[in-house]
Amino acid sequence: MPNPSQIVLPQIAQQRLACLQARSARIGVIGLGYVGLPLTLLLSEAGFKVTGFDIDAKKVDDLEAGRSYIFRIPAAEIEDARKKGFSATTDFARLSGQDAIILCVPTPLTSHREPDLRFVENTARAAAPWIREGQLVVLESTTYPGTTEELLVPLLEAGNTDGLKVQGKGEAAEHGVFYVAFSPEREDPGNVTVARRDIPKVVGGHEAIATELAATLYEGIFTRAVRVSSTRVAEMTKLLENIYRCVNIALVNELKLLSLRMGVDIWEVIDAASTKPFGFQPFYPGPGLGGHCIPIDPFYLSWKAREFDFNTRFIELAGEVNEAMPAHVVRSVAMALNRHGKAMNAARILVLGMAYKKDIDDLRESPSLTVIELLREQGAEVLYNDPYIPAVGRGRHYNLNMSSTPLSKLEQYDCVLIMTDHSEYDYRAIVRQSRLVVDTRNATRGIASEKIVRC
Ligand SMILES: NC(=O)c1ccc[n+]([C@@H]2O[C@H](COP(=O)([O-])OP(=O)(O)OC[C@H]3O[C@@H](n4cnc5c(N)ncnc54)[C@H](O)[C@@H]3O)[C@@H](O)[C@H]2O)c1
Repeated sequence: MPNPSQIVLPQIAQQRLACLQARSARIGVIGLGYVGLPLTLLLSEAGFKVTGFDIDAKKVDDLEAGRSYIFRIPAAEIEDARKKGFSATTDFARLSGQDAIILCVPTPLTSHREPDLRFVENTARAAAPWIREGQLVVLESTTYPGTTEELLVPLLEAGNTDGLKVQGKGEAAEHGVFYVAFSPEREDPGNVTVARRDIPKVVGGHEAIATELAATLYEGIFTRAVRVSSTRVAEMTKLLENIYRCVNIALVNELKLLSLRMGVDIWEVIDAASTKPFGFQPFYPGPGLGGHCIPIDPFYLSWKAREFDFNTRFIELAGEVNEAMPAHVVRSVAMALNRHGKAMNAARILVLGMAYKKDIDDLRESPSLTVIELLREQGAEVLYNDPYIPAVGRGRHYNLNMSSTPLSKLEQYDCVLIMTDHSEYDYRAIVRQSRLVVDTRNATRGIASEKIVRC
């Protein structure tokens, strides 16, 4: 890794660096979702002139009218940003006026659990004609090592009408180039203990100048940028972090299943183990993985590994264990009902929590979706309550068509199933009013009642 002070910048990069350092740079953010919108607000707050780009005209209209579509972002923050010059658009021609462009588009899996890079590809094709000399392009979407070099760079170069090329690893060009880097988003939605700006930003450029420009950009909004030697290292860093979580969650999920049979309280065990001042980090069992990251990202690496005749066994095993958890929850509900002399067929079940984790409004890949489908398949009548998710329509893998029901008259349900441990639920009152409570999150910890089944 070259020392930043030793990098000789050509004139076109010096100008960009100076405006990034002065925070007078114009930044375009493509993809205004859970990652892109908060990022635009951080940039705007720091003084950058930000333009948001999205193909979803409804989102653009909302932002232009000062409205927010993300629960934890108040409309006032959008208004503040607008006063500082933030605007949103579907018109990609406006990319040509930006000093730096950051891509925050989705990277899901296909139905065959393979990387679905259509969003990155479409964005690259749409942006390519508008890239100008000296601009910096940064990909933030989580993906396998090699995506920036093998997919993004060729698409941007092929589609650029001025014939610009990405600055290569050799001698710095004075003209005809732009710069490309990868920097993963590491946010933990709903985590209020670490401010987003205090999460160090890992940055890897296609070559040293891109690393320096991207690191300088992020140093304007994050406490620290961590420079790494390549886009591949930055891409792999994000995957290591998420695979680490996925594998450790699978481990505690498996140990939970064993502990249930042995009559041991796994949560008490984890609390006790957590008192060790070194060598142990707690992970908690649950009803299955959710969110846009942990259930998906590891499979980006498994897929890429096949190109190298390599089988990522930890990832596959963790996936197997974690994906079996919703079925375990449904079995536990059936057994609990059975003990109450009820069959699953025609049982009335209230699911508490649709979001994939507590205190957020994101239901992507939520295990609640799978559990509800499995309960329905067995003939149960299922309702749900979630203060963050008023309705659930159709998604890529489900079609539930439900609305959140008020949290009242709990005695009418044969079973109340706690899937998400939102902080605002009063668990004592829930247990008091319910006939039977199945708890997948240990949300009822400390409450002694025969009605509770922890699973
Ligand atoms: N949500 C998280 O907490 C989180 C955390 C870390 C990393 N990530 C990663 O960040 C990336 C973005 O995730 P997200 O949660 O913000 O997704 P999202 O679905 O909330 O938002 C993506 C946005 O991109 C827009 N979009 C799609 N195609 C486009 C195109 N061709 N041009 C312009 N806009 C387009 C969509 O309309 C949407 O508004 C993913 O790779 C994800 O894995 C997400």
